[in-house]
Amino acid sequence: MPQTPARPSHDRQSAHAAPDALEYRVIADDDHAGIDAVSRAGARGFLMGEPTDAELSAQRAAVEGRRHIAVFDASLLHPEVPVATVGSWITEMSTPGGSVPMWAISAVTVAPTHRRRGIARSMLERELRDASDAGLAVAGLTASEATIYGRYGFGIATTAVRFTVDTRRAGWVGPETDGRIEFIDREELAVHLGEVHEEGRWERPGDVRGWSERWREFAGIAAGEEDGKHVRGVRYVDAEGQVRGAMAYRVFEPDSGPVRLDVRLLAAASREAEAALWRFAVQYDLVDQVTADHRPVDDPLPWLVLDTRAVTAESRDFEWLRILDVPAALSARAYAAPVSVVLEVDDRLGYGSGAWLLQVDASGSVSVGADEGSGEPRVALGIVELSSLFLGGVSVRALADAGRVRGSDVAIAALANAFHSWRAPQLSIGY
Ligand SMILES: CC(C)(COP(=O)(O)OP(=O)(O)OC[C@H]1O[C@@H](n2cnc3c(N)ncnc32)[C@H](O)[C@@H]1OP(=O)(O)O)[C@@H](O)C(=O)NCCC(=O)NCCS
Repeated sequence: MPQTPARPSHDRQSAHAAPDALEYRVIADDDHAGIDAVSRAGARGFLMGEPTDAELSAQRAAVEGRRHIAVFDASLLHPEVPVATVGSWITEMSTPGGSVPMWAISAVTVAPTHRRRGIARSMLERELRDASDAGLAVAGLTASEATIYGRYGFGIATTAVRFTVDTRRAGWVGPETDGRIEFIDREELAVHLGEVHEEGRWERPGDVRGWSERWREFAGIAAGEEDGKHVRGVRYVDAEGQVRGAMAYRVFEPDSGPVRLDVRLLAAASREAEAALWRFAVQYDLVDQVTADHRPVDDPLPWLVLDTRAVTAESRDFEWLRILDVPAALSARAYAAPVSVVLEVDDRLGYGSGAWLLQVDASGSVSVGADEGSGEPRVALGIVELSSLFLGGVSVRALADAGRVRGSDVAIAALANAFHSWRAPQLSIGY
């Protein structure tokens, strides 16, 4: 596992000129009032109500160790409430065959009173600069809208699939499993979700470490959860007595229309556990429909049921990545085939610009460095496209057909064979 760089320092705590001479401030870890003000502004930005004291306290625990930057406007009636926020931290993200420390960016909000003055741009560009200065090769986020982050060099790297299953016709052709499923209470559920996620997440590129409050949200026991008692949980215990899966779900029984089981999170550390939990959901008595979101594009679900048309899938962008250091990022993953190619990368913000020689030999050994006239086939692409390709879930051919990756057919094919990930990337929890 590569060494995790230290979090970008707080040395820049001094006021920093943001647009309109607003004050741009790093909130200290022990400044509880400041963190609460950030949480309040964040809740407002994401269209939620005013947080209660219990929610603020849970949020403080949830974001411990993260860096918060808030923007203040001294001219307001309530100048202590930030007009913009961003929170970020280092997490270890899985890659094909490896992992990389990533600067996770979250809670980007700008008050509606201060929108479209360049505040988000100023915050995002600073996040990237600080992450790069701290030696981080990749930044990542999930986006409320797909048109916001491309301008900073972020590209779509994982696709989230939302399944809807008509359980009345689905049937089952999946494996018989020899473990057992048992109910657990919601406190136990939160613990198991976290443990199973952490064990299973290395199987697929793109996933990140969770945190306690996130598991409590899935389990329906987070502060402020009004309907949490409806959340139920089960775990899968294999024949050796090991817990290899956990699932949080909720059943909705409307006055009319189908009875629906929503899978809030299915975490599995083995294929057997995953199949067993799917079976538990799609064969649930009195339920007509099962839904599950944030699943990978190669989820086995449609192949586990007899009637594949009982499963419908909608897909959407989920995790967006931004490569900041091309050699470090491309060295932090394995490749599916040998390749020797020069990537001519165009990056408006400069971090990734250059001609990079990527060489992977038959033993899988990777070398990446500035090209010095190697004469190898060349492929031209932007940092957005390279960031999209990084986890191996986006088709090189599709980007080439769209005119976003340019090179000879031979070079494109070689790149496609090398970059492809045998397991589709998945980010299973939002951050
Ligand atoms: C999205 C948001 C952070 C943008 O903040 P902002 O300060 O108004 O953005 P800026 O003024 O810095 O705009 C920078 C660029 O992004 C564009 N942009 C901003 N919001 C956008 C949106 N919602 N959709 C598309 N483009 C957007 C601007 O037009 C501008 O484009 P340009 O560089 O081509 O001129 C803000 O509207 C907001 O807080 N929204 C609600 C919460 C949210 O969705 N946050 C994002 C979470 S992932």
